[in-house]
Amino acid sequence: MPDDVFEHPRLAAIYDALDPDRGDLVPYVELAESLGARAVVDLGCGTGVLALLLAARGVDVVGVDPARGLLDVARSRPGAGRVSWLVGDARSLPPLQADLVTMTGNVAQAIADPGDWAATLAGARDVLRPGGHLVFETRDPQARAWTAWNRAASYRSVELEGVGEVRTWVELTQVDLPLVSFRWTFVFGRDGAVLTSDSTLRFRGRDEVEADLTAQGFVLDDVRQAPDRPGLELVFLARRPG
Ligand SMILES: C[S@@+](CC[C@H](N)C(=O)[O-])C[C@H]1O[C@@H](n2cnc3c(N)ncnc32)[C@H](O)[C@@H]1O
Repeated sequence: MPDDVFEHPRLAAIYDALDPDRGDLVPYVELAESLGARAVVDLGCGTGVLALLLAARGVDVVGVDPARGLLDVARSRPGAGRVSWLVGDARSLPPLQADLVTMTGNVAQAIADPGDWAATLAGARDVLRPGGHLVFETRDPQARAWTAWNRAASYRSVELEGVGEVRTWVELTQVDLPLVSFRWTFVFGRDGAVLTSDSTLRFRGRDEVEADLTAQGFVLDDVRQAPDRPGLELVFLARRPG
């Protein structure tokens, strides 16, 4: 079941407006270019920002996500017809020979269940051609990002075009490492509606991810920083041998 923040139509509709700076995606576009990727699967594509950036550069893109709410937003965007959108996860992909599979925006952490995570890596491997790459980011547990996930540090009031004022904040509900659970609250000024969304993320360290990749037959080529979030993220670049 997707989290409400990804599924509820009212929350999906404001998802991008609340987080408009997608400078985090630039290194992924550059990586696709440097690898000469012509066919990309964006796993957990959300509202499709990366998929559309790549498609606009002539790349064949499959965008897959279990959240219909976010995919409906993706499908409504200019250029959406250039992307193949799929509701599902790595287990629902058709046979492909992709050059690159991406998981941006810490999708990896949203896949908290170990069996689902193993199936995700296996599914990514299976849609890659031999020699194709998988790249994804995950918050470095050593940076303890959750310590800032409280109302005081996260409270925002934003005025969104066509929506009006939205007040939003996040609060931890449980820290039971490696799992961290939290609740987003959204208050819509126009009608006073209050919506909440509960999520649980898994924080995996470098050694754990490396072992998980190896177990699914990947070769780890590099572990990088996210240039826009130095010291906070681990970005894994793995390859299907061939
Ligand atoms: C924080 S959003 C990031 C979306 C997008 N990648 C981006 O950078 O904007 C996390 C996404 O992971 C998706 N997700 C959750 N579980 C998933 C799974 N098992 N397989 C693929 N995506 C999943 C959610 O639906 C959501 O769209």
